[in-house]
Amino acid sequence: MMLNMSLTMPAPFAVYVHWPFCLSKCPYCDFNSHVRHGGYDEARYVRAVEAELAANAVRVPGRTVSTVFFGGGTPSLMQPSSVAAILDAIARHWSVAPDVEVTLEANPTSVEATRFRGYRTAGVNRVSLGVQALDDAALKELGRLHTAQEALAAVAVARSIFTRYSFDLIYARPRQTLAAWEAELKRAIAEAAEHLSLYQLTIEPGTPFFGLHKAGKLVVPGEDLGRDLYDLTQSVCADAGLPAYEISNHARPGAECRHNLVYWRGHDYVGVGPGAHGRLTIDGCRHATETEKRPEAWLTRVEETGNGLIVDEKLTRGETADEYLLMGLRLAEGIEPARFQALAGRTLDPKRISILQGEGAVETTADGRLRVTQSGFPVLDAVVADLAA
Ligand SMILES: C[S@@+](CC[C@H](N)C(=O)[O-])C[C@H]1O[C@@H](n2cnc3c(N)ncnc32)[C@H](O)[C@@H]1O
Ligand code: SF4
Repeated sequence: MMLNMSLTMPAPFAVYVHWPFCLSKCPYCDFNSHVRHGGYDEARYVRAVEAELAANAVRVPGRTVSTVFFGGGTPSLMQPSSVAAILDAIARHWSVAPDVEVTLEANPTSVEATRFRGYRTAGVNRVSLGVQALDDAALKELGRLHTAQEALAAVAVARSIFTRYSFDLIYARPRQTLAAWEAELKRAIAEAAEHLSLYQLTIEPGTPFFGLHKAGKLVVPGEDLGRDLYDLTQSVCADAGLPAYEISNHARPGAECRHNLVYWRGHDYVGVGPGAHGRLTIDGCRHATETEKRPEAWLTRVEETGNGLIVDEKLTRGETADEYLLMGLRLAEGIEPARFQALAGRTLDPKRISILQGEGAVETTADGRLRVTQSGFPVLDAVVADLAA
């Protein structure tokens, strides 16, 4: 008898661990990342992460962990023994799937690459490298501490140790032309095995780039060139067998980052470490959690109370459904309208869908899914706002 796998397999369940420290702050970055020239007590932070894992396990016991992601900040500043201790703690609190995906975000400097083997021994089986550019002048402007050569050397070390690795590039950079980006992207694809994250440079409020941009000292491609760069990215990657499975993520079919799919498909995840977000279904109600962002304040809070939570909010059915829409429509596979209906207690408005279909922004697949089209992706925010309203 054929078994329905969806009935037999547990729902994906992820653990995100945030490591908030970096060697220097990149001028475009508004992630929760901090430089501590005076150092920090790594073992104490690891103990606090373990305490938060224990607190979460009490709230969502009995799950099977399908993915773990060490993000940052710069998790590749952690000692492999710290990564091993955290993975051991996860395995003490929950079952771990035999095919668990364990990703660690790494900066591609030579020092960090020396730790890759230790990470693999600790249980990491996938690395995501922040290459950002394959052009030394651009790397300098982005405030990076590595050259293109060093980044490629780190990619080579990753390739020799991990069967799964990915790297990030930022495009739509100052003065970047279509021809230059095409050449850089093709070079990157030649180095990429199965996965690439390609982000358009965003000028984030509060960053040094924001001030420079406002003062006219940093000029980035305008809307038209930005759109052309995006379209070029899609076609070059698709031709190379790395189609976009999410607005900024490309993979060979089957090599998608399963951890990020947990977010985009609306499954549960625990978030530990400073400023981490989580989504937990407890007694049928979805909770949005968030921890204290400032590393030292987070540490004190965890040591005093057992966890760093500053937000633990029950989401309404409508909020849960809108979040499913917002996250799911970023995926090329789109969403299941029936799941939206089950979550929201209402259907998506057929009139709005048909207007968006007429505009070529969304389409319905043969199996009934609703997805954003290639031409709808650049205006994704507007499409989501229209459907959620
Ligand atoms: C958490 S960050 C960085 C991981 C790692 N610390 C690094 O820098 O290599 C994840 C990715 O977000 C992207 N990113 C960060 N800020 C960005 C911005 N303002 N615009 C576009 N991409 C950005 C970068 O590609 C970066 O690798
Ligand atoms: S881009 Fe990465 S290395 Fe740079 S400040 Fe942000 S998290 Fe740190």
